[in-house]
Amino acid sequence: MTPDGENELPWPASGSDHAGARADAVDLDPSGPLRGRLRVPGDKSVSHRALLLAALAEGASTIRGLSDGDDVRRTALAVQSHGARLTLTEGPAKSGRLPLPGVAAVEVTGGRENLHEAMQPIDVGNSGTGIRLLAGWAASFPWLTVLHGDRYIARRPMERVAGPLRLMGARIDGRDGGRYPPLVVRGGALHGIEYRLPVASAQVKGALLLAALSASGPTVVHEPAPVRAHTEELLMLCDADVSVRDGGATVEARPSALRAFDLEVPGDPSQAAFWVVAGCVVPGSDLTIEGVYVGRARAAFIDVLVRMGADIVVSGPTSGADIRVRHAPLHGTVVEGDEVPGLIDEIPVLAVAAAAANGTTEFRDAAELAVKETDRIATTTAALGALGVGTEARPDGLVVRGGGRLRGGVVRSQGDHRIAMAGAVAALIADGPSRVEGWGAVTTSYPAFMADLGRLQA
Ligand code: S3P
Repeated sequence: MTPDGENELPWPASGSDHAGARADAVDLDPSGPLRGRLRVPGDKSVSHRALLLAALAEGASTIRGLSDGDDVRRTALAVQSHGARLTLTEGPAKSGRLPLPGVAAVEVTGGRENLHEAMQPIDVGNSGTGIRLLAGWAASFPWLTVLHGDRYIARRPMERVAGPLRLMGARIDGRDGGRYPPLVVRGGALHGIEYRLPVASAQVKGALLLAALSASGPTVVHEPAPVRAHTEELLMLCDADVSVRDGGATVEARPSALRAFDLEVPGDPSQAAFWVVAGCVVPGSDLTIEGVYVGRARAAFIDVLVRMGADIVVSGPTSGADIRVRHAPLHGTVVEGDEVPGLIDEIPVLAVAAAAANGTTEFRDAAELAVKETDRIATTTAALGALGVGTEARPDGLVVRGGGRLRGGVVRSQGDHRIAMAGAVAALIADGPSRVEGWGAVTTSYPAFMADLGRLQA
């Protein structure tokens, strides 16, 4: 904590310290059926954006069900360091029959007039979404903002966001000619641009739309394949001057003052995916995940699993659907093309489904995997290989040879939350005990994963 208390949030950190916890390990045995109903943490992508927009909005916004992972906590600290006021109005609580994960309700009092330059560098921890969105957010102010994170963040490419923000008039520097964090952002006096994303990235789209809010003239972003639409959806909630065309592929944002809002963050489909795959592969399972966002470019993993033979029923609105999954035999498939950006985060756990499926599954057109929290082509194949699954790493994806028995083994997260959780799901169907080393990485997104597993096994 700094002397002025700026590193304290009104809600406690979940789990243990992220960096320190990386040495942790969990032991898992082959599992009996998973049954029951569950809520997963609030969507991480929505949570980051809700905090950034609430800080800009005039007045007090209330956000319920914010992700309780470290990534989102870092974004909350970032907006607080810029002068937004955060108050916990309800503690993490039990609601009705289901435990409500995450931070129950936080009130954010923002408004551009109330914000100021941050006196300290902003530490995003492990969050690639945090640093890229914050680059765009910070670029809209005439301040100096220094953005840095952990040693994994230091290797994430930033040119994809720095390049177009420079075209808008921001000055952005960083290591290696501005390509890697730490980033130094000097913003203000931006002008709108028309930009075709060279990489299908919602983080880049989001950063440009945030910068657009104070740029002169319109900013138009074209996406080459469908990516998540949370920034534009939340901008509409704030009454921003934003419009969407070409079936969602083009978004135009103009300078806007934002209205404060109330938001219930839906469950995170990327976290639900671990239980959906677990339900598919663990014999006898029948489970339902409640209140999950299944909107644009977030539920493609369900389509893939259904194509593989899964028994999944989705009901309710896309803003918060129930997903019921029952164990069923799976067969291999090919995942490629425009489908990939909509399930890129789910590939590690889809690879577990592929390991349990009969036949071979190929993930193609997924070179982006190599620049996620870890090189997930390498770390996913290593995790499955440790449990005896045949895999092949390719420059643009991976091949998984399914149908064999998984043997108990030691999976290393390598500091990547999704590799840790995918490894845990795989361990449930191994023929002996397994261990996941580096389990502490899950605090970035799903601190209560093991508690939720215990609930489904009970
Ligand atoms: C995210 C976008 C995706 C995804 C990441 C979250 C977001 O990354 O992998 O976990 O919230 O915008 P890219 O934008 O790099 O595709």
